[in-house]
Amino acid sequence: MTEPAKTVFVTGATSGFGRATARRFAKAGWRVVASGRRRERLDALAQELQGEAGETHVMTLDVRDSEAVKKAVQNLPEGFRAITCLVNNAGLALAPEPAQKVDLADWHTMIDTNVTGLVNVTHALLPTLIETGRGASIINLGSVAGQWPYPGGHVYGASKAFVEQFGYNLRCDLLGTGVRVTDVAPGLSETEFTLVRTKGDQAASDRLYAGTEPMQPEDIADQIFHVANLPAHVNINRMELMATRQAWSPFAIDRD
Ligand SMILES: NC(=O)c1ccc[n+]([C@@H]2O[C@H](COP(=O)([O-])OP(=O)(O)OC[C@H]3O[C@@H](n4cnc5c(N)ncnc54)[C@H](OP(=O)(O)O)[C@@H]3O)[C@@H](O)[C@H]2O)c1
Repeated sequence: MTEPAKTVFVTGATSGFGRATARRFAKAGWRVVASGRRRERLDALAQELQGEAGETHVMTLDVRDSEAVKKAVQNLPEGFRAITCLVNNAGLALAPEPAQKVDLADWHTMIDTNVTGLVNVTHALLPTLIETGRGASIINLGSVAGQWPYPGGHVYGASKAFVEQFGYNLRCDLLGTGVRVTDVAPGLSETEFTLVRTKGDQAASDRLYAGTEPMQPEDIADQIFHVANLPAHVNINRMELMATRQAWSPFAIDRD
């Protein structure tokens, strides 16, 4: 007897890691719920993934809107309701300048998206994940910034520290349900992340990735796929990834 298709729910599937993750799972025969705010990108993804081994359902969703998230989950079409894996990927950094120069609105947007949004989606999907039970997983996109501070990291780094700690605490409560929780924490990766962070400064984004070899969205998607497909009795708590050509810096010291 063949196993029924599993379903993955991906937030932020219009770009970067999320889109690569939707592609990776669809190719492998998973059903995919792919969400994000940009409709035309979702339509393009749906078109692209037609004919893949797994079916895809796309939907516009702003993770910051808890009511919209609740409704979207309630209204999932038949066949996409039983979720095996949630990939909490939607997120962003803004304001690369020092904390004392940042617009408060940018801090709010990061908290609303990376913290409140992730919590909204998790809360809405916990019942179906628990119903799936053994083999289910929540994979949260953290960041090296959640552990390692750097200038201009301020609220972004703090929001990713939240993601890490929320995951560990979820694990405590979900013990016995079979649902696994993993913080996937990448470093330097080439996506639209820096374009968003700099509010459209393509040259700044190009400069960051120039002359080095950042990780690509497919590298991270492969790891997410790996985590979701581990034997049901194995939970990776945190997976930190860096480009080989990235490492830490010494402590900064203010001198006279
Ligand atoms: N690239 C890196 O170096 C790096 C490193 C570590 C961690 N990360 C994390 O990885 C995740 C994915 O980032 P990425 O690098 O792939 O960046 P990206 O290419 O800019 O993709 C971000 C995705 O998040 C979605 N998103 C943003 N705000 C949203 C909202 N309010 N509601 C729903 N979706 C929203 C965007 O879709 P719409 O705009 O269409 O809504 C987009 O699909 C983020 O959580 C980021 O913090 C990135």
